[in-house]
Amino acid sequence: MNICNKLNETKVIRDPIYSYIQVDYQIIWDLLATFEMQRLRRILQLAGTNYVFPSCEHTRFVHSLGVYEVARKIITTVEDIKNSLNEEEKVQVLCAALLHDVGHGPYSHCFENFHEVSHEEYTKLIILDENSEVNKVLRSYDEKLPSLISSIIDHSHSNPLLYQLISSQIDADRMDYLLRDAYMSGTPYGSFDVNRIMRIMKVKDQNIVFKKSGVSAIENYIMGRYHMYEQVYYHPVSTCAEIIFLSFLRRIKELSIQNYQFNFDISILKPFLKDGRVSVKDYVLLDDVVVNYYLKQAVNEKDEILSDLAKRLVYRKLFDYKVLTNENELIAIKEEIKSKGYNPDYYVASVKLRRNIYKKYGDVNYASINIILDDGSVKEITKVSQIVNAISASKIVKSEDTLVYFPLVKEN
Ligand code: NI
Repeated sequence: MNICNKLNETKVIRDPIYSYIQVDYQIIWDLLATFEMQRLRRILQLAGTNYVFPSCEHTRFVHSLGVYEVARKIITTVEDIKNSLNEEEKVQVLCAALLHDVGHGPYSHCFENFHEVSHEEYTKLIILDENSEVNKVLRSYDEKLPSLISSIIDHSHSNPLLYQLISSQIDADRMDYLLRDAYMSGTPYGSFDVNRIMRIMKVKDQNIVFKKSGVSAIENYIMGRYHMYEQVYYHPVSTCAEIIFLSFLRRIKELSIQNYQFNFDISILKPFLKDGRVSVKDYVLLDDVVVNYYLKQAVNEKDEILSDLAKRLVYRKLFDYKVLTNENELIAIKEEIKSKGYNPDYYVASVKLRRNIYKKYGDVNYASINIILDDGSVKEITKVSQIVNAISASKIVKSEDTLVYFPLVKEN
């Protein structure tokens, strides 16, 4: 089959952000039907955030569709990009957009802190594993397609334009998650003018640049990111839910080492309790549904720590937190928590929040956001925009950003 084969009839999928998501190519429709893509319906985009923003219940699946749609709009409407890529390359970009998050584990980024293998690595493994449905679909079009798509996702492809569309500092991935997370959390100032950004996109030497006349749209996008980090991504309460989830998994691991008999079947989690990565076959069996079942069952476990941690998530009885001023304070909190009968290994955690709003690289480095001036020369955006300069110059880590979490101790 040819990668450029079109469906007999264009398919459209309703979406609150773009009204419609449009599918023209057979390969995209085939990829959507795979087990690994459908699995993303069972993984929330922002684990923990729904404890603070209850409507934030959207999945990795709908985000992946959104990234595909932004990429589709760019390759079909941005003149420079339309003219720089042939049809095969355009379809490859669409496949990479759809598959870019296929390796996420349950509770998204949260799970990576437990398993210590990145979702990027599993995305590559799933695409390259000959037994995955994604790999079989890709190979049914072209034997070389799995490695080609994987090279777009991990930036090793020879044409930077292909991967900059999916992953750079202003790309289809970031644009979709920002718009969608802002909409779903009910945080409208996280939004920005995506259509304007597409209108000012240009290509210079196989790299994406933006016209100076549209710098306001980029400022607006950077401000949107800033507000989303402040208000949503680093909300201390959603971070707290993530911490308890991590303690919960660590407790299961510890009990399993002690040959504890659980009142529920942990066989799907078993491969993850050893160090190192697991097989693709085992990896894709785990999702939010499985883990949520464990949480519900663990409420009635006889192990007090496991049962208590599960109850805290099931009933939303989260930890308290405060800004950590020095390491001695952390030691004192651990001592106090221990004296109240809690095991500090599971009940005290400190977290340093690191913002990633915009990072400037060297003067003309295409990892930065670059502006093309009327004379054709290129400048990194902080040289053109005082607003972006101010945000990127402000300290990425603020002193008040180290938080320590611990349970509220009941006074008897
Ligand atoms: Ni993504």
